[in-house]
Amino acid sequence: MKLSLYFLASLAPLLSSACLLPEEREGLPRRIHRRQTSNGVPIGTGDRFSAGTIAPRGLGTQSTTLTTLLSVAEISSGLKALANVYGISTFTTPYTTYNGATISGGKVGGTGTCNNAYRVYLNGAIHARERGSADGLLFFIGDLLYANKNNVGLTYGSKSYTSAQVKTALSSGIVFVPLSNPDGVAYDQSSNSCWRKNRNPASSTGSSSIGVDLNRNFDFLWDFTKLFASSVRSSVASTSPSSETFHGTAAFSEPETKSIKWVMDTYAKVRWFIDLHSYAGDVLYSWGSDENQSSYPKMNFLNSTYNSVRGILTDTPGSGSGYGEYTPTAENTDNVKAATRIGNAMSTAGGRSYSVMPAADLYPTSGASDDYSYSRHFADTSKNLIHGYTIEFGFGNSAASCPFYPTQAQHQKNIQEIGAGFMEMLLAAVDIGLGDPVAC
Ligand SMILES: *[C@@H]1O[C@H](CO)[C@@H](O)[C@H](O)[C@H]1NC(C)=O
Ligand SMILES: *[C@@H]1O[C@H](CO)[C@@H](O)[C@H](O)[C@H]1NC(C)=O
Ligand SMILES: [Zn+2]
Repeated sequence: MKLSLYFLASLAPLLSSACLLPEEREGLPRRIHRRQTSNGVPIGTGDRFSAGTIAPRGLGTQSTTLTTLLSVAEISSGLKALANVYGISTFTTPYTTYNGATISGGKVGGTGTCNNAYRVYLNGAIHARERGSADGLLFFIGDLLYANKNNVGLTYGSKSYTSAQVKTALSSGIVFVPLSNPDGVAYDQSSNSCWRKNRNPASSTGSSSIGVDLNRNFDFLWDFTKLFASSVRSSVASTSPSSETFHGTAAFSEPETKSIKWVMDTYAKVRWFIDLHSYAGDVLYSWGSDENQSSYPKMNFLNSTYNSVRGILTDTPGSGSGYGEYTPTAENTDNVKAATRIGNAMSTAGGRSYSVMPAADLYPTSGASDDYSYSRHFADTSKNLIHGYTIEFGFGNSAASCPFYPTQAQHQKNIQEIGAGFMEMLLAAVDIGLGDPVAC
């Protein structure tokens, strides 16, 4: 249990600090110093992709030092450059953010070009302050395309992959969205305010209460005030617009979460999903609502019988009123298998130890993207099974104004670990299964 009582007690005086709340899904720094001024590795000021003409290339195909983070403008330029240099297709979702931004992504690999050819969805930067998420995703795709074109392998720190593995990984068909919270990231980058949410003031009560926690806004047990045990509600999400975990006015009330759903609906044969967060050094698999169980199929998120006990982790499913979220044995085996491979690859790459566990082991949540993705085929049997994951890269920067802002050295390692984790996910997906073959 990461949030020991000791931790919570030591945090009590800091609850007003924007980025350190016990209900955060991400990890908490061991020691918190106030009044720190370093903002970690700086945000890039130019355009290293030269208006969409120089493709992003990460740390898997070259040794270089990443001295700055990608600005919002560079993320957009980098995506365009992948299209210009490698001819990949890009797309824009139909939803515009509060500040008028669009949400764009790209598609690579696969065994055809129809929407059903894409079986893996990688999503970045849903939480604004988790710096390096968009970078890690864009650089990984750039590495993959570079390695494929030049028939070379990938090396992320101490983890290497062959040229043949690059081609296998690409065969999975990848749809990716590097920047799923453009307003939040733009604000965080310009203010260094440790901003987590989007910037929608729809239900705000003042300047201190802007924004929805997008990772509590998905349609999975969204209405936690009715669907979770009263004893856990305050840590699952929040109905208060000023909270870091404000869940919005309705499930999918936000253009950013609608966009992620749109990707899953449009690329309807996606079988594997990763939402890339920081930091905790974790690979999390389903469920995040409660501990998992495979013995009681009717004990699940759709069953209102369990509304008063859902989210209590200390009970035993099947004993008394104990509840656990149902996952069929075969699906759970695959959930764990891929997560373990990802965690091992990330640990090897950077020499730092990643933990692999069910998301609820951090603490129970409602409305998160990973659970939503995995819940879709239970809620609607016409939908494809998606194995959903949250990766929490990195281990935090206790010397920064915001612990989610990495030092240059941490950023370097984070990007290597992310590359290895994504690469391993693609290979695991091909090994474990991409679903029925599609003709297109
Ligand atoms: C549930 O998660 C635990 C880890 O907390 C794991 O050891 C166990 O195998 C899982 N059980 C089932 C039935 O899925
Ligand atoms: C909900 O759980 C109860 C208790 O196990 C069970 O009797 C009931 O059939 C379940 N409802 C559904 C719709 O599965
Ligand atoms: Zn996060």
